[in-house]
Amino acid sequence: MPLWPILIMTSPSLLDILCYPDPRLHTVAQPVPVVDERIRGLIERMFATMYDAHGIGLAATQVDVHERVIVIDVSETRDQPLVLINPKIEWASPETRRGEEGCLSVPGIYDGVERSVSVRVTALDGEGQSRTIEAEGMLAVCIQHEMDHLMGKVFVEYLSPLKRNRIKHKLVKAHREALRA
Ligand code: NI
Repeated sequence: MPLWPILIMTSPSLLDILCYPDPRLHTVAQPVPVVDERIRGLIERMFATMYDAHGIGLAATQVDVHERVIVIDVSETRDQPLVLINPKIEWASPETRRGEEGCLSVPGIYDGVERSVSVRVTALDGEGQSRTIEAEGMLAVCIQHEMDHLMGKVFVEYLSPLKRNRIKHKLVKAHREALRA
């Protein structure tokens, strides 16, 4: 029996990622009332979408779902999925560092953003269990970046208005050309 029909049936369908400057990226997400099958289905599709796009994190806001759900995998091996539902930063280190960031909603753009070096976050996991995560390095940066998305904030908003406008025009132009192609 060929394997491919099974693979097609079991792989979750991908979600469309909103691209900056889409105004829907500035929507503030609502808390998830209950972690049920609907949310688990969303998480599964978000992971599939993130891995397909070679990203290390994705917030529900980016797929036009305005609930406080984040998926992350900062591992090289792409096998350490982390789910954060209703995340809350309990503590952020006063020590900050400027690092290069990119975003699946801002394709091809990378720039420096100042973030706390480490954070402590509480969140529900995919089973609805409360967990505390101590993160540093790339994971800490990723969590802060994705939590910004849930507040309607995209990383380019940390850049100067001049830079931001340049990025906006570049992406609008690229989008127009893609539609024409
Ligand atoms: Ni992003």
